[in-house]
Amino acid sequence: MTDEATQPLWYKNAIFYEVPVRSFYDSNGDGIGDFKGITEKLDYIKSIGIDCIWLLPFYDSPLKDDGYDIRDYYSILPEYGTLEDFDLFIQTAHRMGIRVIADLVLNHVSDQNKWFVEARSSTNNPKRDWFVWSDTPDKYKNVRIIFTDTEKSNWTLDPNSGQYYWHRFFSHQPDLNFDNPEVRLEMINVIRFWLKRGLDGFRCDAVPYLFEREGTSCENLPETHQYFKEIRKIIDQEFPGKILLAEANQWPEDAKKYFGEEDEFQMNFNFPLMPRIFISLAKEDAFYIENIISKTLPVPDSCSWGLFLRNHDELTLEMVSDEERDIMYSEYAKIPKMRLNLGIRRRLAPLVENDRSVLEFLYALLLSLPGTPIFYYGDEINMGDNIYLGDRDGVRTPMQWSFDRNAGFSRADPEQLFAPVIISSNFHFETYNVESQSRLPSSFLNWLRKLVVTRRRNVSVFGMGSIEFLHSENKEILTFLRIYDSSIVLCVFNLAKKPSYVTLDLRKYAGWHVRELISQVRFPDIGELPYFFTMQKNSFFWMELERRDESEQP
Ligand code: BGC
Repeated sequence: MTDEATQPLWYKNAIFYEVPVRSFYDSNGDGIGDFKGITEKLDYIKSIGIDCIWLLPFYDSPLKDDGYDIRDYYSILPEYGTLEDFDLFIQTAHRMGIRVIADLVLNHVSDQNKWFVEARSSTNNPKRDWFVWSDTPDKYKNVRIIFTDTEKSNWTLDPNSGQYYWHRFFSHQPDLNFDNPEVRLEMINVIRFWLKRGLDGFRCDAVPYLFEREGTSCENLPETHQYFKEIRKIIDQEFPGKILLAEANQWPEDAKKYFGEEDEFQMNFNFPLMPRIFISLAKEDAFYIENIISKTLPVPDSCSWGLFLRNHDELTLEMVSDEERDIMYSEYAKIPKMRLNLGIRRRLAPLVENDRSVLEFLYALLLSLPGTPIFYYGDEINMGDNIYLGDRDGVRTPMQWSFDRNAGFSRADPEQLFAPVIISSNFHFETYNVESQSRLPSSFLNWLRKLVVTRRRNVSVFGMGSIEFLHSENKEILTFLRIYDSSIVLCVFNLAKKPSYVTLDLRKYAGWHVRELISQVRFPDIGELPYFFTMQKNSFFWMELERRDESEQP
């Protein structure tokens, strides 16, 4: 299939890159990243092989939840620049062949948003019904609390009116009332506004929580699915090719429903998979990955899971069993400060003790499972984190560009930065920065660039191909085939922290050639005997299986 033919499904063949504008690059020396800054750094983003940028919220906000508390949906936080700066960023990205999606926060607003300011001013204010009010905090009793470290209830008393308002996140983030048609319409206006300005779609924040119904968990309600189907219809009619990516941190059966029948979200983060990758590694057991992949597949043809290892939030452990959570805490969060809510607030490299083979293993896995890989800024240079900063700020520190002052992020005085750069001895920015890592041929960054190029050369099979697990006696080895038309790639991953081996029954492909995909080195042909791999600790192979040409002598 040519690229044009697959164009409407561009997101299936893409690699995404998640960026907070605040943290990426400061163009004007005020200590805060901005749109002009990220525009200047598009070359770098292109150099990693990124097809689509996902911007964290950049709208006007008091920043009590890093921008997920929106004060005005139609304007940009002045520190980040102007609408013109935004337009220029989008145009430049598009010219370079990079698409851009942004966060769309539907569920809640900042308590400083004028809608809420009006709504709370009196019980008969016309905006009152835009939010969810109650005389008692007893409604919707069984609904879980998400930010367990901060909030004791999903209700907060508004002293003005003596009524309580509903919020699934922080108490300064009142939930909108989606039963009110004006709210539903207003959010569609917001969507139109930003898509007209050139965005290629949205990462939709906190999608399961839009509606409330007594006696339910108030999550994944049919009304919520219905509303997103309406949004999708409008987008397909007015902005064809633009996409919706769901943040629905749910169990597999519920998460899968957000694809609808190809009439809801094109993409959806694979939350069920993410922690189980780390569990598989900790337990040296392929079962956890294979089992969850089987539970999350198939998805409709035009849909794609968003695959990720880390993001701007804590590594969430809400949707795993108690036993799985215990494994995660004991392996990856040995110090209490590493935990937050029901999760672990660490970046990828510190999480795996900066073990190069594990990091390569993880990125290779991310690039070979079915779905669209999404990288988190800075993880490509193995950036460290700072667990002594509050909330999730320790994984959102300034991007490290060079070994200059402020890691080359800003010309401001160091104390003026929105957050300190990482100077811990094992992760000092003087080593882990784009300039140094780019110069060193063997760096992780350069290795990753090469891996991305290899995937791009074989993008149909990785982006669109089916998956077939192969079984062996050895639970430490995860083995699967990716298949698309006549292309077949055999992927072999050693989860163990020591060398291991596997014998595979590949008789079905007897006579076929085997070629390692990155180096193009030929391995022995497949025969009738079991095919054998010896593996270094946490290593992997991508092997192309090539049918023998008719003219070749056996
Ligand atoms: C975002 C978080 C945010 C929360 C509330 C999420 O799921 O990813 O960063 O705090 O929504 O808006």
